[in-house]
Amino acid sequence: MRLVLLGPPGAGKGTQARHLADRLGLQVIATGDIFRRKVAEDTELGRVAKRYLDAGELVPDDVTIGMVVAAIDEGPAGFILDGFPRTIPQAEALERELAERGMAISAALAFVLDDEVAVARIAGRRTCAKCQTPYNVVFNPPRVSGVCDVCGGPLVQRTDEKEETVRRRLAVYRESTAPLLEFYAERGLLREVDASAPESEVTERAVETLKALKDGSPAPA
Ligand code: AP5
Repeated sequence: MRLVLLGPPGAGKGTQARHLADRLGLQVIATGDIFRRKVAEDTELGRVAKRYLDAGELVPDDVTIGMVVAAIDEGPAGFILDGFPRTIPQAEALERELAERGMAISAALAFVLDDEVAVARIAGRRTCAKCQTPYNVVFNPPRVSGVCDVCGGPLVQRTDEKEETVRRRLAVYRESTAPLLEFYAERGLLREVDASAPESEVTERAVETLKALKDGSPAPA
C-alpha cells in the first residue's frame, strides 16, 4: 500500500503517519522531517531549506521532488508520504515517477481540522530533536517531561512554530496544497478523515477508511 497524507499544518499527519506505519507495516517518508534533519546536519540542502522552513514557505519543487524520489528508490515498496506532495507539479511528478516504476498511489488520506484547533495544537507541540516524534504538552505529553519516550532524545520546539509563521503556513496550505484534494478526488483516491477526535480515534477512523477502500465498500462517515 502506498499512501499520501494531506491536511493543514497541525492536523496530525506526522502523528498518524507513525501510528499507521506501525499498524500497516509501511515506511514513512516525511519531507519536513528530512529537511529538519538536513538543517541539523548543516548540509548544503539543509542550508537552502532552512530559509524556506523558517519563513513558512515551501522549499522549491525541484529540490523536494528529487529528494522524495531518492527516498522511494532506497526504501521498501509500501510507504506513507507525509508532507508530500504539496503542489500540483509535485503530485504530477510523483504520479509519473511511480508509473515509471510500475507503482501507483493507493489512497490520499486528507485529515480535516479547523484552523484554530490546528494553531492551538501546534502551540503545545514538542518534537524530539533526534527521531522527530511529535508530542503535545496538553494532549499527548511524554512520560518524562522534555524527554522522548521512543529514543530518549530532547524535546524541542520547531523554528517554524511562532504563531505568525504557523498562520503563513496555513495560508500556503490553502493556496498551494488544498488544490491537491481535487487532484486526488478526480482520480477516485481521496478519502477524508475527521481529525478533530482524540489521537487513537483518528487512527481507528483512518484504518477503517483504508479497510473500506480495500473491500471496495463506501468509506465510513
Ligand atoms: P512539515 O513538517 O510537513 O509540517 P506541516 O505539514 O506544516 O505539518 P506539521 O508537522 O506542522 O503538522 P502535522 O499535521 O504533522 O501535525 P502533528 O502530527 O505534528 O513541513 C514543514 C516545512 O517543511 C514546510 O513549511 C516547508 O517549508 C517544508 N516542506 C515540507 N514538505 C514540503 C514539500 N513537499 N514541498 C515543499 N516544502 C516542504 O500534530 C500537531 C500537534 O498536535 C502535535 O503536538 C501532536 O501531538 C498533536 N496532535 C496530533 N493529533 C492530535 C489529536 N488527534 N488530538 C490532539 N492533539 C493531537
